[in-house]
Amino acid sequence: MASANLNIMIKAARKAGRSLVKDFREVENLQVSAKGAGDFVSRADREAERIIKEELRGARPNYGWLGEETGAEPGEDPTRRWLVDPLDGTTNFLHGLPHWAVSIALEHKGEIVAAVVFDPAKDELFTAEKGDGAFMNDQRLRVSGRRNMIESIFATGVPFGGRGTLPATLADLARLMPVTAGVRRWGAAALDLAYVAAGRYDGYWERGINSWDVAAGILLVKEAGGFVEGLREGESALESGRIIAGNTQLFAPFAKLIRERD
Ligand code: IPD
Ligand code: CA
Repeated sequence: MASANLNIMIKAARKAGRSLVKDFREVENLQVSAKGAGDFVSRADREAERIIKEELRGARPNYGWLGEETGAEPGEDPTRRWLVDPLDGTTNFLHGLPHWAVSIALEHKGEIVAAVVFDPAKDELFTAEKGDGAFMNDQRLRVSGRRNMIESIFATGVPFGGRGTLPATLADLARLMPVTAGVRRWGAAALDLAYVAAGRYDGYWERGINSWDVAAGILLVKEAGGFVEGLREGESALESGRIIAGNTQLFAPFAKLIRERD
């Protein structure tokens, strides 16, 4: 049984998802003018955040807020905060690629306690609450059971547009590619983590990620029986912007390989 808060989050994600799906259909018509499409997607993104904020703050006016588009707003209740990415996978959305999601997390006393990642294009709703497991459209999720790196698939985000974390990520790839079944770079961190939770990927790491990209996904993986840590042991995956997630058996060898760099 979903809690009242999780139901509020699901309602907000579905409502924003409907608005985004409508805009996604329009994007292809706008591709002729790249700038036009870019501005249109920024508006779609902002409108999705507006919808989510209206729903969440309407239902829980005293909770704090951190959204990708509108930033941080403290709430009367300093222990609770929404972390929201209204459109994760913006570049995919802009290019007409159906791989993007709405991500909403609820943090209580510094810990994520409820999570929703909604992929409207595939109608996949990933949800989790602390201690209650993770689900995809009501089906319980479990991380993969793979034990061998060479049979396993890992996801990451390769930094683009001159970001400083590119050399480290390329070095990660050079160490990982020869000893695994491959690395995927699909461009939506919230879905990368949801897919680790669903056992589709065996692990995920990324350098230089924002808390709203991964907040919901972190709980999905943990509640599906996986591990999530910061890049350095003891470092917060949520706050450091450097994250490693994986299934139970492979987390240790996978993390060892990635941590060789640091
Ligand atoms: C991005 C995606 C991508 C990740 C980037 C994020 P956005 O979020 O999650 O997979 O590699 O670091 O910024 O911009 O599409 O919301
Ligand atoms: Ca994002």
